[in-house]
Amino acid sequence: MIDVDLAKVAVPLSWPELFGVPEPPDLELGSGNSRFLLELAARRPERSFLAVERAAKYHRLGCDRAARRGITNVRFIRTTAEDLLFRLLPPRSLAAVYVLFPDPWPKKRHHKRRLFKPEIVAAITEALRPGGRLLVKTDFPEYAEVIGEVLEAARGLEWLEAEPEFADLPQSGYEVKYLQEGRRITSFALARLERGAPGAG
Ligand SMILES: C[S@@+](CC[C@H](N)C(=O)[O-])C[C@H]1O[C@@H](n2cnc3c(N)ncnc32)[C@H](O)[C@@H]1O
Repeated sequence: MIDVDLAKVAVPLSWPELFGVPEPPDLELGSGNSRFLLELAARRPERSFLAVERAAKYHRLGCDRAARRGITNVRFIRTTAEDLLFRLLPPRSLAAVYVLFPDPWPKKRHHKRRLFKPEIVAAITEALRPGGRLLVKTDFPEYAEVIGEVLEAARGLEWLEAEPEFADLPQSGYEVKYLQEGRRITSFALARLERGAPGAG
């Protein structure tokens, strides 16, 4: 069951049902061509990985690539990040959330479509187990500022040094392209605090 059929699984999602093991998976929101998550899943066969992608083309590509490479510890859900975060995920159920090169929507009238908003970060925090990581990269300076502000205002997260957190992780599809183009990339790394929930005190 690489390709999760949402009509056929329990909601909220159950990791034993999806992966056959209860351990919290790592999640990538907007996995694109899945270069990052498939490489990570191949390197860490003992762990579980979940990809969410709203574009049918990329969802299919990820499923096909996983099948071709014989990678069995990854699951792909075709839906939106919002649907996953607000409807499908159990609380404190993820080891890490990666948001790599989220669409920057550069036009001002499209800013409301951006993923990084306080309510999305609160939902990500809620979905992480204590100590779980939120790792983010963007190549778009103005969006990096906005992301930084939203993360600064968020509750229940502590800031980490980004470089060591990303040091052992693969490059994503967009990252490969942007590095070749010489773009400057901004990285953020945070961890869910052991105590303190989003919205608390
Ligand atoms: C710029 S690409 C980055 C892909 C990948 N993370 C990478 O770094 O190569 C952004 C991806 O996020 C997907 N996406 C955008 N908004 C989304 C949303 N709200 N829910 C799920 N996927 C989304 C897009 O379809 C696209 O594949």
